[in-house]
Amino acid sequence: MCGIIACVGCGDDTLDTLVHGLSKLDYRGYDSAGVALTAPGDETVAVVKREGKLERLREALDQADAAGTAPSGTVGMAHTRWSTHGPPSDANAHPHTDCSGEVAVVHNGIIENYQTLRDELEAAGHEFRSETDTEVIPHLIEDLLAGPEYDHADPEPAIREAMTRLEGSFAVVVSVAGVETLFASRQDNPLVLGASPRDAESASGERSEPRAGATYLASDVPAFREFTDRVVYLENGEFARIDTDGFTITDSDGGVVEKTVETVDWDPEDTGKSGYDHFMLKEIYEQPRALRQCLQGRVDEMGGRVTLDVDIEPERVQFVACGTSYHAALYGAELFREAGVPAQCFLASEYATSTPPVDDALVVGVTQSGETADTLSALREARSRGARTLACTNTVGSTAARECDEALFIRSGPEIGVAATKTFASQQTALNMLALSVAQQRGRAGTMRESLSALRDLPGEVQAILDESSAEAVAEEFVDAPSYFFIGRGVHYPVALEGALKLKEISYKHAEGFASGELKHGPLALVTGETPVFAVVTGDGPLATKTIGNVKEVESRDAPVVAVTDGRSDVGRYADHVLEIPEAPPRTAAVLANVQLQLVAYHVADMLGRPIDKPRNLAKSVTVE
Ligand code: AGP
Repeated sequence: MCGIIACVGCGDDTLDTLVHGLSKLDYRGYDSAGVALTAPGDETVAVVKREGKLERLREALDQADAAGTAPSGTVGMAHTRWSTHGPPSDANAHPHTDCSGEVAVVHNGIIENYQTLRDELEAAGHEFRSETDTEVIPHLIEDLLAGPEYDHADPEPAIREAMTRLEGSFAVVVSVAGVETLFASRQDNPLVLGASPRDAESASGERSEPRAGATYLASDVPAFREFTDRVVYLENGEFARIDTDGFTITDSDGGVVEKTVETVDWDPEDTGKSGYDHFMLKEIYEQPRALRQCLQGRVDEMGGRVTLDVDIEPERVQFVACGTSYHAALYGAELFREAGVPAQCFLASEYATSTPPVDDALVVGVTQSGETADTLSALREARSRGARTLACTNTVGSTAARECDEALFIRSGPEIGVAATKTFASQQTALNMLALSVAQQRGRAGTMRESLSALRDLPGEVQAILDESSAEAVAEEFVDAPSYFFIGRGVHYPVALEGALKLKEISYKHAEGFASGELKHGPLALVTGETPVFAVVTGDGPLATKTIGNVKEVESRDAPVVAVTDGRSDVGRYADHVLEIPEAPPRTAAVLANVQLQLVAYHVADMLGRPIDKPRNLAKSVTVE
């Protein structure tokens, strides 16, 4: 999704800071990039933007530098665009400007009434240069500034008025030529402010961090994390003004809002590759640490208890989520049902039309980013119908965390690869603990000690898989297959779905996940000797026996079988390859099995030379519905 970084107070480093910030937002996925700078005395904002990757923007800036025309300024903003309205092109890239080049805007989100605004502005003589919805914003501000009630010397009132005319979702930053101030607002799209040490000092009495006097605005903290760890999350409808004196945040009526300056608890190095070829691989290998962090202080094995900092006693649960998080939600729902709590799982984008009665349900939004538009929308829908909501998220300060009644943080640390890996394992683990805590409340924690020791062992078991996996050899054998199937039952059904999603999104190979029992109801028609089938089979109970029956069905159609198993059943007899996992109860085996499938997906994609961390057409955080 689109990325924003903007700053005031970086002096001669402004352009470098912006380009560096864009590189840190690179992981979100984008198809064009641009910068805009201004300094006191300028009559227009200098803009350079290019379709394509950041490298193309860098080249354009280098050429401008060589020609002595590089944009310069002490106030700047930059953007990576993931196209929605109009294809990727130089013209459609942000920043966008008004007719005079005096007002520049970067925007994330969608302006739903842009066509109406554009028609009005074109009728008033404004000339548009792009096909984007965003371009209405600078023209609208220009139009207002031309009126008698507004003044160029202080553009804030005109900008505020423009914001009230926008419908849809937006995080917007506005720069006006020659003005050493940036203006910003948000509605249903994240925007975070990076406070300078001086601002932090006034709020907390501490002093640290480089670059006193600089203030940042961004769609995501990594954009400025190297310069400050002090952040302020903007709420819907709030308006920020940043200048060399710091920042002021006001509500929609102009009243000053006292904000808390929070401290980010992860290091800038956490957003580097640390020697791994890809962020995805690094994040797969970070899973033991991520799981330890997720479990820390929450599992009391001696006391036989789980202690989570959430206040819930649900009669029923509805999960809403998308993509990988939906698979974690399916897993969570299964565990809640085991705990005796009726639980349903909805694709967030379908929740509003499903209109399930919420009554006494707790609605749990599972979202690593906490910013997925479909999930936020489903949670809002649930709230508007009176439900209590809980966000299961990785992102402290995210919209989901702030809007929900309760938040359960999965504590994975930053995940940069578009393909979710460690956050999925942490979501599974957090939901596992949540279900156990509810079982405990209901006096149904029969196997609590076994479950707690399984959780305790989980990080070490994941490490053992990472150390010993033969997934690379399996990937090598099947890298040329045209299609891949993944099957599992119970808690392993979501693992099958996730295994297939991971493979398809990063390798671009066709892959499908099925509940094992469903194969014979249709998909079996597609199974041939060229369809590797990955079967997740753990334990030696009835579910394992049934899945082995399904394995035999595909085997007799000549399909190669890869069993992901703890070896307690005889599935290995029917499999061409075995990817081993340690013996564990089903609920943690589902975490372990998934690690093997992550590795298979990674190695297939790597052998095919795919851009693993930024697969085509995909974005890390999907902030449009
Ligand atoms: C999976 O690898 C993807 N990144 C995607 O399916 C993702 O899980 C989905 O877009 C939901 O994101 P969220 O967890 O941030 O809400």
